[in-house]
Amino acid sequence: MNIMITGATSGIGKALACQYSASGHKVIACGRNLDKLDALQSENDNIHPLCFDLTEFDTYPELNDDNQLDLLILNAGDCEYVDNPLHFDAKMFERVININLISIGYALEKWLRHIKPGGRLVVVSSSAGLLPLPRAEAYGASKAALTYLTQTLAATLKQNHVNVTVVLPGFVDTPLTERNTFSMPMIVTVEEATKQIITGIENGKSEISFPKVFIFIMKCLRLLPSGLWQRLATRMK
Ligand SMILES: NC(=O)c1ccc[n+]([C@@H]2O[C@H](COP(=O)([O-])OP(=O)(O)OC[C@H]3O[C@@H](n4cnc5c(N)ncnc54)[C@H](OP(=O)(O)O)[C@@H]3O)[C@@H](O)[C@H]2O)c1
Repeated sequence: MNIMITGATSGIGKALACQYSASGHKVIACGRNLDKLDALQSENDNIHPLCFDLTEFDTYPELNDDNQLDLLILNAGDCEYVDNPLHFDAKMFERVININLISIGYALEKWLRHIKPGGRLVVVSSSAGLLPLPRAEAYGASKAALTYLTQTLAATLKQNHVNVTVVLPGFVDTPLTERNTFSMPMIVTVEEATKQIITGIENGKSEISFPKVFIFIMKCLRLLPSGLWQRLATRMK
């Protein structure tokens, strides 16, 4: 398969790139750090690196017609928390929305038409978008919107023979979560996350969410009356 992955220099994206390349697939690995991309390419076969910043539309490489994709995995993202909502940090909000949401729009404009008929778009969102979580005003908002966007595309792209999958991970042990100072219930290894994502893609799932118990609890909490959830969320903070 011809596979393009964003955020391939770290965490989930890097693990997916290594797994797919080890299985003999051609992987177009996107990142913004040349040293990390060089290391990825030297340690793995079948890696074709592309170095650019996903938040800068004008730097996106054009794909030529030989580069039709079986799989486009939009995985890159970042997380920053709101510590004091009374002193709302608009620049931080903009950074998070730009990489987690706006850059997805850029990638769709540039690359969606390069997915082969019968191919698949995979968007890595987050279970954080399922519930209004304390401190996640920026991250959660970006991921809730991203899940909405992806689920809408799943319906509208059917007529174009493009399959769509949204990925909703719970906590995964990566450099992104290493920065967290709070406890992360049911956190899984990056290997387990990668296994879930690759198996879900192979099985043609439209939603890949894990770990199952964590997602079940999040989806149950979503059914609570908003006043009750707000009281619980205040205690969590
Ligand atoms: N880890 C979790 O618990 C968790 C849970 C739910 C959802 N997710 C989602 O999973 C995805 C991957 O997260 P991760 O945990 O693997 O994080 P990670 O280890 O921090 O990797 C993030 C990747 O995105 C790239 N990236 C960030 N901003 C970029 C930009 N402006 N231009 C180009 N590349 C950029 C990073 O590049 P650099 O190497 O240059 O920084 C890195 O390759 C994210 O969308 C995240 O929101 C993660």
